[in-house]
Amino acid sequence: MYDLVVVGSGLFGLTVAESAARLWDARVAIVEKRSHIGGNAYSEVDPETGIEVHKYGAHIFHTSNEEVWNYVRRFTDFNDYVHRVLTTIDGVVYPMPVNLGTINQFFGSAYSPDQARALVREQSSEIPAGRAEDNFETMGISTVGRPLFEAFFRDYTAKQWQTNPTDLPAGIARRLPVRYTYDSRYFSDPHQGLPLDGYAAWFERMVDSPNIDVFLNSDFFDEESSEKATLTRDSTAGRVPVVYTGPVDRFFDYEYGRLGWRTIDFEVERPHTGDYQGCAVMNYGDLTVPETRTIEFRHFNPEREYPGDRTIVYREFSRSATADDDPYYPINTPSDQKMMHDYRRAMADTPGVLFGGRLGTYRYFDMDATIAGALDMVRDDLASLLGSNL
Ligand code: FDA
Repeated sequence: MYDLVVVGSGLFGLTVAESAARLWDARVAIVEKRSHIGGNAYSEVDPETGIEVHKYGAHIFHTSNEEVWNYVRRFTDFNDYVHRVLTTIDGVVYPMPVNLGTINQFFGSAYSPDQARALVREQSSEIPAGRAEDNFETMGISTVGRPLFEAFFRDYTAKQWQTNPTDLPAGIARRLPVRYTYDSRYFSDPHQGLPLDGYAAWFERMVDSPNIDVFLNSDFFDEESSEKATLTRDSTAGRVPVVYTGPVDRFFDYEYGRLGWRTIDFEVERPHTGDYQGCAVMNYGDLTVPETRTIEFRHFNPEREYPGDRTIVYREFSRSATADDDPYYPINTPSDQKMMHDYRRAMADTPGVLFGGRLGTYRYFDMDATIAGALDMVRDDLASLLGSNL
């Protein structure tokens, strides 16, 4: 009775479902394990403070992709928030990513762009040619020089990965951001902001179609419940087109092993003040501070009336995910890459099921890249599958 089953209601699943329902009048079922749609970009209003919080970590929309920008504005407008990040190192606050302001504050200097470039070039020359690729630390020093690397990148990254920097791969440091201007915007995309009436309202508009049915609290692998059993892997795969955006290893019953992920633990606090830290995101670069960053959500929406005596902050702590945790960032060790090689073969041998999104492909994507990937799937795969079938 459905033309398409979409597993997962994150931005990938929502974009596919919305497009299929609108373009081809397809009847679409969305199967979602959680109690809400929107995947990890979901947000809700904190009942105690009235402040919108991003339940699975801070999400700032930003893009240079005009097709994606035009697509998302069908469902929401954005405020004019411009993302800036600060970092506290050894009791001093600096702008991030490292820019001319950071460099001059750190060295107590007034270098011009050319002078700062020359300094970094000289400091990064301590790593002999050919040694940069050894590990994260050698690549980091050869990219930005030892003083900036040790202050701004080494310990923060070690906390994120819970791994000694000399044991991390060089690839992580290959593109450490350093700007030789005073531009402290975190993203340089032409479009950025937060959805004016929140992420949840944006996502609800995407499924507001008589062609789309959403089944919440429904696990695609749960064969127990007879009511939901019609929308499980065993009853749909091979019979009706399926777009699967859950974890790829789960789909194949972990046949080649479990892929490694990092997760984040959040500690929630509601301080009695109208402004706890003066910005949305404060990183903590020192190993002596266990959290990686603190998010104060009210700053994402300066246009809103929020209480003057109450705020809410999430402190983030990074660690490896266990089987029971929410998977956030792929770790991608050589053994993960080998597993993905096998899973990719298995995906190609599973007709009628298309794999997408960050969990379905084991890759980190920002929201705009997720939507772009879904629009590609709609054009490249679903158009022939659904466009001609209906
Ligand atoms: P997503 O994970 O959102 O959705 C997958 C859905 O599938 C989930 O709802 C899940 O419950 C469901 N599912 C899984 N297994 C299932 C099963 N067996 N049955 C039914 N449903 C199942 N991007 C950006 O542009 N700006 C930002 O600031 C950030 N910030 C950020 C912070 C953090 C901490 C993370 C981890 C990520 C970001 N991102 C981001 C990235 C952003 O979260 C990402 O692009 C989207 O969530 C990807 O959407 P997907 O649909 O691919 O997955």
